[in-house]
Amino acid sequence: MEVDDRFVVVTLIEGEVYCIEDLCTHDGGTLGDGEVEGNCIACPRHGAKFDLRTGNALTMPATEATLSHEVKVEDGKVFVQLAN
Ligand code: FES
Repeated sequence: MEVDDRFVVVTLIEGEVYCIEDLCTHDGGTLGDGEVEGNCIACPRHGAKFDLRTGNALTMPATEATLSHEVKVEDGKVFVQLAN
């Protein structure tokens, strides 16, 4: 999904909507192409896992979190406030 020229990954987990940057902090992989397992998404390039709720890097080779964006849902529409 694209928001203001940036790509993000939006997910629904246990009734809550979350949004993280579509960017792996290891080497720029596209997280949105990765496999989702529970609350995690695995980067399709080298397999680093990120928490979809927080953006935290959970496994090597990524060591830094990807950005997590604020989300608001109103009348069934999702609004994203991009973090810098
Ligand atoms: S680019 Fe994502 S794990 Fe390497």
